[in-house]
Amino acid sequence: MNTEVRNTKLSAWITEVAALCQPDAICICDGSKKEYDAMMQKLIDSGSATPLKKRPNSYLFRSDPSDVARVEDRTYISTKSQDEAGPTNNWIAPADLKKTMKNLYTGCMKGRTMYVIPFSMGPIGSPISKIGIEISDSPYVVVNMHIMTRVSSKVLDLLGTDGDFIPCLHSIGAPLAPGQKDVQWPCAPIEQKYISHFPEENLIWSYGSGYGGNALLGKKCLALRIASAMARREGWMAEHMLILRLTSPEGKKYHIAAAFPSACGKTNLAMMQPSLKGWKCECIGDDIAWMKIGPDGRLHASNPESCFFGVAPGTSYDTNPMAMDTLKENIIFTNCALTDEGDVWWEGISDDVPSHLIDWKGKDWTPASKSDAAHANARFTAPASQCPVICKDWEDPAGVPIDIFIFGGRRSSVVPLVFEAFSWEHGVFLGATAASETTSANIGAVGNLRRDPFAMKPFCGYNMGDYFQHWFSMGEKLGSKAPRIFYVNWFRKSPDGKFLWPGFSENSRVLKWMCERVDGKAGAEESPIGLMPKHADLDLSGLSLAPENLTELMSVKTEEWKAEIPDIEAHYATFGKRLPLKLKDQLAGLALRLG
Ligand code: OXD
Ligand code: MN
Repeated sequence: MNTEVRNTKLSAWITEVAALCQPDAICICDGSKKEYDAMMQKLIDSGSATPLKKRPNSYLFRSDPSDVARVEDRTYISTKSQDEAGPTNNWIAPADLKKTMKNLYTGCMKGRTMYVIPFSMGPIGSPISKIGIEISDSPYVVVNMHIMTRVSSKVLDLLGTDGDFIPCLHSIGAPLAPGQKDVQWPCAPIEQKYISHFPEENLIWSYGSGYGGNALLGKKCLALRIASAMARREGWMAEHMLILRLTSPEGKKYHIAAAFPSACGKTNLAMMQPSLKGWKCECIGDDIAWMKIGPDGRLHASNPESCFFGVAPGTSYDTNPMAMDTLKENIIFTNCALTDEGDVWWEGISDDVPSHLIDWKGKDWTPASKSDAAHANARFTAPASQCPVICKDWEDPAGVPIDIFIFGGRRSSVVPLVFEAFSWEHGVFLGATAASETTSANIGAVGNLRRDPFAMKPFCGYNMGDYFQHWFSMGEKLGSKAPRIFYVNWFRKSPDGKFLWPGFSENSRVLKWMCERVDGKAGAEESPIGLMPKHADLDLSGLSLAPENLTELMSVKTEEWKAEIPDIEAHYATFGKRLPLKLKDQLAGLALRLG
């Protein structure tokens, strides 16, 4: 394999980083299986990885208990002016942040190897793809990047001597003194963690964490935060969205992109197996969509990743059989529990609860234990190509033409199962005001309601007021070819706390209504919040759903919606002058319709 670095910018950067971080050795990665196996062997030998007897070529890692999720409080968008980063992002001026981080980076790789990981987001060489180079001192990062992105020496060939790339610098922030024994999951304390982005120079610096979204820099950092800023400059879109193809019994294909916050069911919907006879669902991506207007004037979406980095708890043959089948071999698990037979286990995987496990902290666990055996944000890193319903066109550089956008979140009350936007502008309002209960994908409180516009609050690399405007501008460019916009809430509960809607494969009923709306075949009635299916418009054949549940699921209570208005106003106020006027008009319209 060719791992010679001929690119002038890259060799200068490697020299600069090595002088700063002072590693013991430098390794240029080639993405080969040999490299993966050798790296994994090192991780087994050091006690970081446990091979799973029950799953071929699969391994379990346990993180430090402080390093289990993204750290939004320690994530920065560092632009020249704070206004560019906007109110939803933490900001430190680039010079100050770089000074602090250079101090941390000084000597931070002592006693370790510095890996140079050439990767492509999107198929190597495709016009939609972006090249990144991650420098990291974590072999766990190397093996995960192998699955998550396209790591290859071909990327170096493609760069040639003068090609450009996005530099992504990562250190776990745990140098080793001579003779010092390493720990199972080295990382820095929370106050030293920095996940920093410099969108004006397409640069990423991450320090102190080994966890997925903080350390695997192709994903949230490059494909969302940096890419969203590039997309705005260049007139395309980088969104926190799954992409799926739904095929009707008549063989008509519909492409759907859906934005839900982290740990709100994107992976489940992306691989959903419709309960409705004759309908077929295929997965194109479960987390990120890059979308460009194609020669046909429509919005075409591609998945820049090559893996699913999914939340394990709750995943089962009942909730997501296609994910379960994807996980049979070649998987990296993080913070799951280990069975005595040598397999992984997590809460919700099946009704059988083993009488003994080793929990995610490496301690004995029995059903009498007070805490969960797997961490609530335990993850699997799985090759997308292994998914039994991966769409044959998932790597097509042309992408797939989007018919339908779905926004949504986790709301135990107020928001009905489904409604349709009156127009693109109303749809942008729905996205911009989306709210959801927080989950364990971020370190912090769980279950608090927060506005998470377009599920992009943690991932927008510039001022979100301008991001809203970008959505309006894209709508103007797309005109009549713009996708239709819908809003869903699978999570509404009854007053006694039970989910009202069965979800999962039954969500196909809701998607069918959307497809029929696109085709002008299904009815809808106007409500103050949007266009809603009448009960007869939803195909509920064969579903046993108590009529009072359906009524509650679809109810729009005027007083509850009126109570949302001051909260939306407070959300708007944070954007000051950058808030597009069209959003104010939309809120005024809602208030008027509510009476
Ligand atoms: C993810 C997240 O890992 O959104 O996809 O946290
Ligand atoms: Mn995500």
